[in-house]
Amino acid sequence: MKDILAFAKEILLERLEKNGTFVDFTMGNGHDTLYFAQYCSEGHVYAFDVQEMALENTKKLLDDNGGFDNVTLIHDSHHRVDQYVQGEIDAGIFNLGYLPGSDKSVTTQCDTTMEALDKAVKMLKIGGVIVVVIYPGHSEGTREADMVEQFCAKLDKHTYNTYKYALLNKKNPPYIVAAEKFIPMNRYTGERL
Ligand SMILES: C[S@@+](CC[C@H](N)C(=O)[O-])C[C@H]1O[C@@H](n2cnc3c(N)ncnc32)[C@H](O)[C@@H]1O
Repeated sequence: MKDILAFAKEILLERLEKNGTFVDFTMGNGHDTLYFAQYCSEGHVYAFDVQEMALENTKKLLDDNGGFDNVTLIHDSHHRVDQYVQGEIDAGIFNLGYLPGSDKSVTTQCDTTMEALDKAVKMLKIGGVIVVVIYPGHSEGTREADMVEQFCAKLDKHTYNTYKYALLNKKNPPYIVAAEKFIPMNRYTGERL
């Protein structure tokens, strides 16, 4: 079995082409930004964070790995994604919570997380997917977990499939919620509508 973050990447890669548009809604130290920048060699990666330190660390990580001209680092909250990213997106990740080893008070917040997630699913192209990695082991994380699940459970079933992937035998483990904008198929012929 795969661990949560490895599984998150697997889900995303299934729906992402090398020329695709990817959004890292929570840049942090840039590990996901780097990973998807390397993958989307003919596409573009947008990465958001509210902490200056996250942008500095990510820029250094990208430079240390050869530099990338297919990445835009954005020092702003992810709920303003529509002001920076035009058109549809193929895939995106929210890795919620706070940056390990840094100021725990700078954590993602329900209000902005939900506004960003709402915009993200609307910006998805058909076949695209958003993955949210949720950490319910702290108070804001517990609220986010409830709100993300409720939001995804209510997404229109004719447009989206939503999923939950979680470990059962640990207390408050991180887990994944994913929303895909599915490809409408003719149920009799299997052809794309
Ligand atoms: C768990 S960390 C992300 C780790 C990252 N994926 C990595 O590879 O290092 C969560 C990040 O979300 C950022 N964050 C908090 N609120 C945010 C917001 N409104 N918009 C964008 N990023 C935010 C935090 O500053 C923190 O760096």
